[in-house]
Amino acid sequence: MSTTTTCNDFFGFFRAWIANPRRVSAVAPSGQSLARLITSEIKPGDGPVIELGPGTGVFTKALLQRGVSESELLLIEYGSDFMRLLQQRFPNARVLWMDASQLAQYEPFIAPAGSVVSGLPLLSMTPRKVMAILTGAFRHMRDGGTFYQFTYGIGCPVPRPILDRLGLKASLVGRTARNVPPASVYRIRRRQPVAYMT
Ligand SMILES: C[S@@+](CC[C@H](N)C(=O)[O-])C[C@H]1O[C@@H](n2cnc3c(N)ncnc32)[C@H](O)[C@@H]1O
Repeated sequence: MSTTTTCNDFFGFFRAWIANPRRVSAVAPSGQSLARLITSEIKPGDGPVIELGPGTGVFTKALLQRGVSESELLLIEYGSDFMRLLQQRFPNARVLWMDASQLAQYEPFIAPAGSVVSGLPLLSMTPRKVMAILTGAFRHMRDGGTFYQFTYGIGCPVPRPILDRLGLKASLVGRTARNVPPASVYRIRRRQPVAYMT
């Protein structure tokens, strides 16, 4: 990405944050180190991949570098400026201008996804909204699919009661100090049904 694009992205992001700090929740796009970390377990065969809250597309670009094809990406973004930018930048991806918490109400747009990568600010959302996002995301993923979420907080941004209620488990993928602010990534999966011996 050129220096001009990086500067434009930075100022575009900052403007979006001024206009809606709660929804954007960061003053600048994520850095390359976090983008590599959140996509580190994704393989080309994991497509389709759904990305929630792509912003300027830092994670989207990392997904392409991991070998996921652009036509297997579904990008869901609620900021209209970001949505237009994503359409220009990734013309072969499917870009939807929608609230990610509405996902469960739609029939699958694409084949069931292997992974969901989320840049959503879950910590500034209500528990009800977080539940709706996870319910929708897992509804559109195949068995064994993984939801990747980053956070600036300490611990998984999805509270334990929500994980329990939805039958999910979370584990740490890793942390990076080379992001402003430093961030962690969690993988969230369905709990395996317990197999009872007779
Ligand atoms: C913290 S920024 C992350 C952007 C990008 N993934 C990155 O890491 O640079 C949060 C992004 O989520 C989007 N967003 C927030 N709430 C959303 C929602 N309910 N549905 C879809 N996108 C949402 C914002 O517009 C913004 O692009």
